[in-house]
Amino acid sequence: MFNDLRELLNKLEEMGQLKIVEGADWDLEIGTINELMAERKGPSLLFDKIKGHPPGFRVATNLFYQKVVQILSFGLPENMGDLERVRYWKDKYFNFKPVPPIEVKKGPILENVFTGNDIDMFKFPSPKWHMHDGGRYIGTGVISITRDPDEGWINFGTYRVMIHDKKTVSYYVSPAKHGLIHREKYWAKGQEAPVCMVFGMEPLLFGLATMAIPSGISEYDMAGYIKGKGIEVIIDDVTGLPIPATAEIAVSGFSPLPSVDSRPEGPFGEWTGYYASGARTEPVVHVKKLYHRNNPIILGQPPLKPPVNTWFPIPLHTAPVVWSQLEKMSIPGIKGVYIHGAGGRIFCCISLEQRYLGHAKQVATLAAGILQGGACTGRFIITVDEDIDPSNFEEVLWAVTTRMDPETQLHVIPGYLTSPLEPWLSPEKRTARDFTAAKIIMNACKPFHWKDKFSVTNVASPELREKILKRYKNIFELVK
Ligand SMILES: Cc1cc2nc3c(=O)[nH]c(=O)nc-3n(C[C@H](O)[C@H](O)[C@H](O)COP(=O)(O)O)c2cc1C
Repeated sequence: MFNDLRELLNKLEEMGQLKIVEGADWDLEIGTINELMAERKGPSLLFDKIKGHPPGFRVATNLFYQKVVQILSFGLPENMGDLERVRYWKDKYFNFKPVPPIEVKKGPILENVFTGNDIDMFKFPSPKWHMHDGGRYIGTGVISITRDPDEGWINFGTYRVMIHDKKTVSYYVSPAKHGLIHREKYWAKGQEAPVCMVFGMEPLLFGLATMAIPSGISEYDMAGYIKGKGIEVIIDDVTGLPIPATAEIAVSGFSPLPSVDSRPEGPFGEWTGYYASGARTEPVVHVKKLYHRNNPIILGQPPLKPPVNTWFPIPLHTAPVVWSQLEKMSIPGIKGVYIHGAGGRIFCCISLEQRYLGHAKQVATLAAGILQGGACTGRFIITVDEDIDPSNFEEVLWAVTTRMDPETQLHVIPGYLTSPLEPWLSPEKRTARDFTAAKIIMNACKPFHWKDKFSVTNVASPELREKILKRYKNIFELVK
């Protein structure tokens, strides 16, 4: 695991997986170079000497799509299949014991500190990433840190951040996210909402900020637990919020009531592959303090049109939650849960050993309810028998096309919470703020009441395979 973004970059360099790019323009060049490199599954990129900015003010992109980066960032075992890694994370994550952050008085983030008229958000080479973006986005690989004003716990959330002027940024938070709930609690009391935003940090903190960790649990305590040591933080004297001591860039400030100040945000090229949420008026943050390290690095994680994936490939964000919730409900026979598609959140595949009539339908409807609250999240719930590996999407598709009677085993259930990022939402639904969508359940298990009579699968038995592999070892050695 890493203690800051620079340790990850050093590791990538050591692996021959980091390319330095000099002289690019923040205005669409960085974004397009990143898009073309990500399409080619090329190395991570560190942009320096960016047009109009001093050398050393850098942007890092294309960092997370390689499995090895996720394994190192989350401390996952190396010699294990991906389904087993999901199981490992589920067991680790749900045995959570808080390890609180450690307050320190010194840290690299304090190398440069600005207040008042010395604050200038344009001093960083924040890219305009995509052609139709409405502005420069400093926050794509970002953490917003907030405190629940009633309960006191600290939340991290990744919500994109656009720059408006030297001292004003806006952030876009979808319905039901913790950062939005905290903000609204302050506003309900007639107060401005305090917030710190961090642009560039160790990958585990970023990963946790994008996970739906339950209300009341701080991602700081979770990160400390995963690492086995508390995260070092400095306390921002403006908001009282803790900032990672090794962060690259951080700001602290207040989000006023929207009636006081709110500004057009977007459009922004979103992870669904469209600019679906357009430009709207969103709350802002008035920046009161700006911190950065010497030679600061913006962590860039701009979304790209699927199937280009720049995100962590193993679905630790989604699959372990469904799996553990099903276990907590004492649902028997669950063999594995895996989620495929953009961001590891679209096709939820559950393998189970059917024990009773309606078992697969029960599992699917529960999973549909557990996977809530984001565009396309768990849109397809697919149940398969225990002989299918849910992490192998081609196997799942084989089951869908050969075991599912479309007339009786496919169900469309409307009314789940989704998000304004859904491209297909009609103008009428959007105006009515009706951000609901249907989920599709596909039961690709053999029909329970006659599964023993289902056609026999055309594959050699494990015993016969073992015998043949042993006897003809020499010919199989070549294709290990
Ligand atoms: C790369 C990335 C970018 C994201 N950007 C946003 C965003 O701009 N707005 C948003 O509401 N959610 C965004 N999300 C999803 C949230 O970060 C995620 O739902 C997280 O759980 C929110 O934290 P919370 O559960 O504490 O609210 C993003 C996720 C990822 C992986």
